[in-house]
Amino acid sequence: MSAMRVSERLNELYAVCGPTRPGYSHEEDAAHELAAAWMREAGLEVGRDEAGNLFGRRGAARIWSGSHLDSVPNGGRFDGVLGVVAAIEAAERLPDAELAVVAFRAEETGPMGSRRLSELPDAFVELHIEQGSVLERLGEPLGVVTAISGQARGAKTFEGRAAHAGTTPMEERADALVEAARFILHVERCAADGSLATVGVVEIDPGAMNVVPGRVTVSIDVRAPDARALERLIETIDFEPTWRQDPVPMSGAPFEALKAALPGAPELRSGAGHDAMVLAAAGVPTALLFVRSLNGGVSHSPEELSSPEDIALAVDALTETLRRLY
Ligand code: GLV
Ligand code: MN
Ligand code: MN
Repeated sequence: MSAMRVSERLNELYAVCGPTRPGYSHEEDAAHELAAAWMREAGLEVGRDEAGNLFGRRGAARIWSGSHLDSVPNGGRFDGVLGVVAAIEAAERLPDAELAVVAFRAEETGPMGSRRLSELPDAFVELHIEQGSVLERLGEPLGVVTAISGQARGAKTFEGRAAHAGTTPMEERADALVEAARFILHVERCAADGSLATVGVVEIDPGAMNVVPGRVTVSIDVRAPDARALERLIETIDFEPTWRQDPVPMSGAPFEALKAALPGAPELRSGAGHDAMVLAAAGVPTALLFVRSLNGGVSHSPEELSSPEDIALAVDALTETLRRLY
């Protein structure tokens, strides 16, 4: 089985389903259909759970490997997809292994699918593009993740008064967007000492050129390497998270198997969130393998890149890790 096929499938999925595959959209459905066909080709039994997560199982399948197929708007071809396609390849290389390949739903906007699992495996291994520049700077193709940073998401709404842009004097306005803009600068100032805070979505109502904004909602995404820093960030910014996950370590048999499969490989933290974070937090022994990002580590962008050579090494390492687990 060739690792080149993994790169070809990444290109095929990107070409067929596009660079924008929101969770539970037609585009994500199409990506799941494609992956289901590849799972069947690999001799796996295809099924779905109530959340729409896709499984390709063999036998008892108490060991899972996979990732997600949804994307951010205009995303790259590796984020998530690599972990699913590589796991299918690994499953085909291990014809006796009773395992499952899983494609979780809507990781980017939740994560939704991995949080709605009706059963949990005994072990989970995820392969993912690093989405940062640590491995590129070290000159290393692969890295073992030790822990995933904490993360919280929420929104804040600012109420003003919609009014005519040509007749309402400046001193009589209640401009919700001006209030929101002050808040966005406050969010930026609150992130310090390795913490990160981002406003990525602004919804303006009514959103017309000649109307003073009456209502604005902004999204808030915060990350921190430890739970106390995350709590501090939420308090200082002053918002109510709709979802929160404290940092989680990678641990147990999959983590040990990955380290044994990659002796001497660098260890690093993940600042990005992953389905691995959700499974680890639910108590599943979990490992996360990173493959080097090129182009300075850019991700959530079409510029995202890993080389076919690095991907080949990553598929070998994933296969060896799974082989050690069953
Ligand atoms: C997942 O892509 C994240 O937002 O960390
Ligand atoms: Mn991802
Ligand atoms: Mn992502």
